[in-house]
Amino acid sequence: MALLREAAPTECRGPYNRAEAQTINPGSGMANRSGVVLSGMRATGSLHLGHYLGVIRNWVRLQHEYDCYFFVADWHALTTHYEDTAVISEVVWDMVVDWLAAGVNPKLCKIFIQSHVPEHAELHLLLSMTTPVSWLERVPTYKDQQEKLKGRDLATYGFLGYPVLQSADILVYRANYVPVGADQVPHVELTREIARRFNEFFGREPGMAAKAEAAIKKMGKKNARMYNELRKRFQEEGDGEALGVAQALIENQSNISLADRERLTGYLQGTGRTILPEPEVLLTATPKVPGVDGQKMSKSYGNTIDLRDDAETVERKLRTMMTDPARVRRSDPGDPNKCPVFELHKIYSDEDTLKWVVNGCTTAGIGCLDCKQPLIDSIQAELEPIRRRTVELEADPGLVRRVIAEGTEAARDTARETMEEVRRAMGLYYG
Ligand code: TRP
Ligand code: SF4
Repeated sequence: MALLREAAPTECRGPYNRAEAQTINPGSGMANRSGVVLSGMRATGSLHLGHYLGVIRNWVRLQHEYDCYFFVADWHALTTHYEDTAVISEVVWDMVVDWLAAGVNPKLCKIFIQSHVPEHAELHLLLSMTTPVSWLERVPTYKDQQEKLKGRDLATYGFLGYPVLQSADILVYRANYVPVGADQVPHVELTREIARRFNEFFGREPGMAAKAEAAIKKMGKKNARMYNELRKRFQEEGDGEALGVAQALIENQSNISLADRERLTGYLQGTGRTILPEPEVLLTATPKVPGVDGQKMSKSYGNTIDLRDDAETVERKLRTMMTDPARVRRSDPGDPNKCPVFELHKIYSDEDTLKWVVNGCTTAGIGCLDCKQPLIDSIQAELEPIRRRTVELEADPGLVRRVIAEGTEAARDTARETMEEVRRAMGLYYG
């Protein structure tokens, strides 16, 4: 869902941006970090350069550092394309082939298809019990997409539940990090709220309130009164300062046990045991990838360079790619900052080449085709091995199926474990 995609992360404020977003910078010493990373891509078609530069390259890096789960979100595609399911089934395998060709390595991560892991659906159902409808109506993508996709009837239960399904995708693996673009930050934020609420309902030990009340008494009359007051201010008015003061108060109690201390803290915050941990966004430092018409590269604009385009097509698309519109004749100087070709140069070219472009363009020393040539060479060099691997993979459908079967099994093992705990916490074990 490409909403808010235009917004820079820093502009994305409001109730959805409270999570500490982390930005991944290439080569920024991520070694030694561990945890579970999960990301999905809607089944919308084979990949273009924008996907590759914005998402896949990042996955390829992350797979070395984390326990990674990457999946094709075919059910999410269904929320908007339920009238035309043939499209979805056609593209699912193409997408997996493209991921593999682009370097996502099944030896390093788990690759699977959402609908092969029915635990996503079970958790989606259970989470839907505790998720207020108002939270879903408030998600920016909900109204935006309904307006954008005017031709489709999106007043469905399934579409409203899109972010609950996404939350289930994330929480069923107890993922710590979700690498996504800025447009998806609201969904991860909502996931945090859904997890928190779930933990509040089902993470409590039996008799937690009574035990906490007993612990409060042990603090002495004056402290107990203060604690109750501060707890009320935090829980009813969201007063963060009151929370801090109360935490310090608990900290300063010398004659209560550790268990009581934890109870007092949990009771204060309104939380229980953490069954579903709250994930964090890993904001991808995504380059702005223009399409051949200068707008953002997107399938819906028909301006993409696809990973499956052959060499001649790539060359043709780049040679006819839009440039600074003010540079009409070869003798007119141009402004690289108004030229989408220069945006691509910034992704692919070194300092010297960039200087050569700026100098040549602004003095009309080079023509646009001269300017594009090093870029064409770089992009071809990047795409050539990917194209080669795509051909190999297409010739061996059994291999792709095996990759998916193994990824699914590994993913299901984790998902089953989570669901065991979830069912137990909810009291859904009857015999
Ligand atoms: N909603 C995401 C998108 O449109 C795709 C997605 C589905 C996803 N489930 C997810 C992304 C879980 C991250 C985690 O791009
Ligand atoms: Fe764009 Fe390069 Fe042409 Fe300048 S010379 S307008 S930067 S393509």
